[in-house]
Amino acid sequence: MSDIDSQTETVWHVACAADRVVEGEGFGVKIGETRIGLYRLEDGSLHAIGDICTHEFAILSEGFVEGDQIECPLHQAMFDIRTGKCFGPLADRDLPAFPVRVEGNDILIGLPKA
Ligand code: FES
Repeated sequence: MSDIDSQTETVWHVACAADRVVEGEGFGVKIGETRIGLYRLEDGSLHAIGDICTHEFAILSEGFVEGDQIECPLHQAMFDIRTGKCFGPLADRDLPAFPVRVEGNDILIGLPKA
């Protein structure tokens, strides 16, 4: 299911039930061809960032959450869960970050209109 915000050209997609995303763990979803990692931080906020490491192919949501960063399970590059900013060491490109909202018991992720 999806709906379009005509002002921002954002298409909102239902990603999963809100209770699937728990603090301290990543939760990977796929919307179309886009893999996205969802995270819930200690303050309860939800965040969605690209789920493929920018170094090689690794699923970041299968990595290790350390505070507000996710550590790549393959070579330990670190990324900011809030912004997708890359802290290296081996990866050197940021991840995309996507808007998130909750409606009822669903988490929705906003993707740019194709
Ligand atoms: S694949 Fe993520 S740091 Fe190498």
